[in-house]
Amino acid sequence: MSQAQSGIFEENTNQFYYLEYKLDFSMDLVVLKQAIKSAVRNEGIGINVVVAFGKKAWNLIQPNWQPVDLVDFKTLNGVQDFSMPSTQGDLFFWIHSNQHDDNFDQVLLIQSALEKVAKIQLDLVGFKYHNQRDLIGFVDGTANPKEDARQMAALIPEGEVGAGGSYVLSQKWVHDLSAFKQLTIAEQEKVVGRTKVEDIELTGDDMPVNSHVSRTDISVDGQAMKIYRRSDPFGSATEHGLYFLAFACEMRRFSIQLEHMLGMTDDGIHDKLIEYSKAVTGSYWFAPSIEDLQSALT
Ligand code: HEM
Repeated sequence: MSQAQSGIFEENTNQFYYLEYKLDFSMDLVVLKQAIKSAVRNEGIGINVVVAFGKKAWNLIQPNWQPVDLVDFKTLNGVQDFSMPSTQGDLFFWIHSNQHDDNFDQVLLIQSALEKVAKIQLDLVGFKYHNQRDLIGFVDGTANPKEDARQMAALIPEGEVGAGGSYVLSQKWVHDLSAFKQLTIAEQEKVVGRTKVEDIELTGDDMPVNSHVSRTDISVDGQAMKIYRRSDPFGSATEHGLYFLAFACEMRRFSIQLEHMLGMTDDGIHDKLIEYSKAVTGSYWFAPSIEDLQSALT
């Protein structure tokens, strides 16, 4: 049985750091692998380091096989002027623990290992906000799979290429909080599809077809397109939002949800949430199992 990277499922942390890199593909492969190996070396206690690769980078370090669904993220153009850009990267690190200083030590270690072979394209700090809320004030993650259902949703099953690994979607979303805050609480709840304080899903006629929940809670041929979300807020006074991060056993679960959000569906209905928040980055990644990571780097 292949072992997933443990940081994917560690939920008891409140400080996050996200790094995305573009690799220098002209570099000698031995040097490149050595650099990545040093970067994933985790010397801290209680620090989680999850590493994932863009398609091109994975092909380079593991030319013998790749997970069947792995593709680059392509820019999506939806109804009206809504879109989600591709900023496809090569290497992704998600560092998390309960200490920003410990995360930071790990970030410095990663950056010094990679600075000669890769260029940083995203360098972002995330944090837990009022327990488990996102910056629009709603609890985020409630409908996430729990316990064993997390692995079912997040990991490529045994017997398939890349078993124990995971497809990953990351998108930096910037909120227009002043516009969102102009809505009444009842209007905000209709955007999300849940109540704000009690975090209860709207039902019946109260649930709009264009709420975020309506556009992302999707079944195909009777199968729920469950993903395992690990997003957290980021931000400064002038730019803030959600670093959307999710893991899935198949890539179509992401694309189906994104297309529903953008109205790229027969009904042409877009997710009301994208009127108040905009994706400014987008990459698909593969987070290999521990065994597959080790063998790719030898
Ligand atoms: C601005 C960005 C986003 C914000 C602020 C946001 C926020 C939320 C909130 C508050 C909920 C309800 C509570 C919960 O179950 O977690 C939710 C649910 C959900 N979101 Fe998002 N989300 C964002 C982007 C996305 C994206 C890009 C996707 C898909 C790729 C997505 C997929 C989902 C799913 C699958 C659910 C659960 C639906 C259900 O089964 O009830 N979200 N989100």
